[in-house]
Amino acid sequence: MDELVSTDNTFAQLLDPKDPEVCQATDHFFEKAKLADPLLTREQWEADRAGPYICAIEQLKAEKNAAVIGHNYMHPYVSFVCDYLGDSLKMGEAAASEKFNDKSIIVNAGVKFMAETAKTLNPQKKVLQPSMDAGCSLAASIVPADVDLMRVTHPGIPIVNYANTYVDVRAKSDALCTSSNIVDIAVEITKEWNIDKVILAPDQYLARNTQITLDGMYERGDLDRRIEVITHPGSCEVHERYDPEEIKILRITHPDIVILAHPECIPAVIEAADFSGSTAQMADYVATHRPKILAMITECAQGYQIAMAYPEAQIVSSSCKGCPHMRQINMRNVYEALVHEQHEIIIPDDILVSASVPLQKMKTLMERASQRKASQTEAEVA
Ligand code: 13P
Ligand code: SF4
Repeated sequence: MDELVSTDNTFAQLLDPKDPEVCQATDHFFEKAKLADPLLTREQWEADRAGPYICAIEQLKAEKNAAVIGHNYMHPYVSFVCDYLGDSLKMGEAAASEKFNDKSIIVNAGVKFMAETAKTLNPQKKVLQPSMDAGCSLAASIVPADVDLMRVTHPGIPIVNYANTYVDVRAKSDALCTSSNIVDIAVEITKEWNIDKVILAPDQYLARNTQITLDGMYERGDLDRRIEVITHPGSCEVHERYDPEEIKILRITHPDIVILAHPECIPAVIEAADFSGSTAQMADYVATHRPKILAMITECAQGYQIAMAYPEAQIVSSSCKGCPHMRQINMRNVYEALVHEQHEIIIPDDILVSASVPLQKMKTLMERASQRKASQTEAEVA
């Protein structure tokens, strides 16, 4: 397991890892962490001061009326202090949900663009980002001027940006999407605009995978027109490194394996997988189908989460590909964020207002998609 917590004495106020109260409160987390990393020893757990950090963070959350909302790619240690863990879409929804209504502080255990989503949805709350170095190769691949250029080069075509973008780019979008709703958003926005083209940016692979899904829907008669997807040359530095050869080898070495892949992977990887979906959709697939042996073709921490939730499942990995940006978040900076109430996400009012429009649009389009699906099902049953 990565070394997450420095063992220096800066945080002398933390309890002793061997303190019986700490052990009593956190031993079950040690047992859980061992499911993710069977080589984790008690000595390492204590050297990382995981127990004292968990206790200190829980205490601070109660004192400051704060909640920690985390992404599925969080390291197990960080996930233990999260009040909610989910995909990009669900994190944003959770931050704005009734469950966290009364919280004054939201700590984003994820990368910076996720904190911006939380702030856009909760402008009245203090949103803290434990590390400002937690960027994203996709979010960095597009700037507002790129969106302006798309408007000129593709006039009249809706621009849907992935939620993995910064708030100034979102502010110039017609709608946002995430990997869990991109197909529905593309279908609904082209219907609304009465057009057969859509810009899905900035992830070129997610866009290409969506094109393949939309083409399949058209061929099956689920769409009344073919939708053409235009994209941008961005990519996720983690998912683009997966190779279909790895999947081939996994199938040879483990003939019964079920392979789940994130749609930010290249199309050849998605084609070779058994299921593709957002991180939450992959977790839901495991919950429903309970594969005995599986591979998660995504950021490797999600495999840790699955290993902790389903100890009976055998998780095989060809290679562990970690996101260097997600790895910036650790127990120490979550703790420091709460102690010093740092680093607060501040978004200028005009950008905040403009960025909330495409976020709201995404919600409206999702509602429309679920109404359409419900009436289709009703028609099929009748
Ligand atoms: P989702 O959780 O929406 O699938 O996003 C994956 C991702 O790469 C986030 O950085
Ligand atoms: Fe960005 Fe990819 Fe890391 Fe997600 S996994 S934060 S998309 S670089």
